[in-house]
Amino acid sequence: MYSRILINPFHKGCVIFSKCLTRKPPANSSWVRTLSQGTQSSNSHDFHEKDGHGNARRLTITGLGAITLAGLYYYYKKNIPTVWAHEKKESEVNTVAREPGSFVDGLPVYTSDDVAKHRDESTGIWISYKSGVYDITPFIKIHPGGDTILLGAGGSVEPFWSLYAIHQQPGILALMEEYRIGNLTKGEEHLAMANMDDPYANDPRRHPALVVRTKKPFNAETPGFLLVESFITPTDIFYVRHHFPVPDVDPSSESYSLEVVGLDEKDSLNLNLDQLKTAYAPHTVTAVLQCTGNRRSEMNRVKPTKGLEWGQGAIGNAVWKGARLRDVLLAVGVTDSDENENWHVRFDGLDTDPTSAPYAISIPLTKAMDPRGDVILAYEMNGEQLTRDHGFPLRVIIPGTTGARWVKWLTRIEVSKNECESHWQQFDYKSFNPSTEWDKVDFSTAPAIQEMPVTSVVCDPHDGEKVKLKDGKLNLRGYAWSGGGRGIVRVDVSVDLGKTWHVAQLIDSVKVSKQWAWTRWQANLPVQTKETEVWVRAVDSSYNTQPEGMEHLWNMRGVLAVGYHKIKVSVDEN
Ligand code: MTE
Repeated sequence: MYSRILINPFHKGCVIFSKCLTRKPPANSSWVRTLSQGTQSSNSHDFHEKDGHGNARRLTITGLGAITLAGLYYYYKKNIPTVWAHEKKESEVNTVAREPGSFVDGLPVYTSDDVAKHRDESTGIWISYKSGVYDITPFIKIHPGGDTILLGAGGSVEPFWSLYAIHQQPGILALMEEYRIGNLTKGEEHLAMANMDDPYANDPRRHPALVVRTKKPFNAETPGFLLVESFITPTDIFYVRHHFPVPDVDPSSESYSLEVVGLDEKDSLNLNLDQLKTAYAPHTVTAVLQCTGNRRSEMNRVKPTKGLEWGQGAIGNAVWKGARLRDVLLAVGVTDSDENENWHVRFDGLDTDPTSAPYAISIPLTKAMDPRGDVILAYEMNGEQLTRDHGFPLRVIIPGTTGARWVKWLTRIEVSKNECESHWQQFDYKSFNPSTEWDKVDFSTAPAIQEMPVTSVVCDPHDGEKVKLKDGKLNLRGYAWSGGGRGIVRVDVSVDLGKTWHVAQLIDSVKVSKQWAWTRWQANLPVQTKETEVWVRAVDSSYNTQPEGMEHLWNMRGVLAVGYHKIKVSVDEN
């Protein structure tokens, strides 16, 4: 069934992609124009020239999206005639065989000043990479990382590629060679910070059991069968989701403090870690942290989305300890009045993008102030000091809410009448209907995702596994969870494509409200056939349940992939 759905949309994706690649360059495109000489500075890395809170912040790295693009690229190379490449005289520009960024005899030579003059669509957008000069104007709209690519406009992409290291792979480099228009003047390639240090060099060591989705930034998930082994997910194998290198924070009072700003600046507070720990009573919460894109790979089988190729392990359940955010906000003069009902609380992390914009997000003030909302500023995870990967020295825990809002390496909190204006709040972590594509989307029409919908997963066995039956029965185990504190009231399992349903046994106790933790479940079901498809769905305390397929849930960003979890297993008769 999956394969049937897969083929057509994939073709469609390729057609969209090929359209972009085969589109003629705009009439004024710089690669067909004669270059005027000029003396403009080649220092094109002045990011603050752009609106530091707008355009330049509308950035993200959607690493696996890039891999998807590379995959599409290879498919396209194999199957679709290269109209534009022909126009570029492919004999002259042999894209595939040569070393990306190497000097190509016969191509025009440009100075870095020439490159610097091409920074927007009116001039054409040029970049350099090693000795290569590229006109990437047609690629801007289809770049999986959005406007991030514009950071390098008019200059070298190398500094950003060392940050967004996902690009450093042959497929992406070969793709870029398609846009090659010339060489950089010999010697100038070194102007472009060729020896910039690897910003990820100081990232912490990770447990080898994690399933790595991208190394830089580090993104990795817990293998499914390990998730169901314990109610609490061990810290070392807890999934990790970063956008940037991991900050290395010295928690001593001189180096680290948390700034908390109420609506009135004069009410602000600066707290070091010790002050936070001693001035506010500690509170412990057991809660699930789940990435908004968990299970995206299942949605990608319908049609590719942009985002990391998460399986079912971008989720975990942990014990968090810290100060209640409510208590800290009361200390800066925030009240429970109706007047501030629609206000927001913004959280800034210490990690920043190349424009120096921090990872920042907001949540409704009502959640932050809810005495039963259990929002805490955590310094401990699973009984130990937070690890660097999970936000040391401080992160916010927002039970029932999507993981994107649980800001790590917390350095600033601000109460505001407005939502955070960051890229992550405004242009990411939102969902649209399946007909909305990147070229038509208006992000302002959708609210930011906060509470998560109900989900459930079969963790053991895994999809495609050969299983041994016990007394003719298939043993199944998994997790179920819902956002907003809604407990799981039932997990249904079918081994005959939904003709009959069995109620699974819930392993962990659940409440109907303020249920922030997950419940694991198990079922022992008789199977008659050698090949079996298993379906699971959960029901939460509001009687919300999961939709059957991913087709109608599909959204271009691949978030909220909460259809029935379906796996196929075969019986090992030996
Ligand atoms: N906070 C900061 N400062 N930077 C980040 O990149 N990633 C967010 C959130 N908080 C992120 C962040 C996302 S998208 C998720 S899913 C969770 O952290 C992941 O938390 P974990 O790495 O501890 O599992």
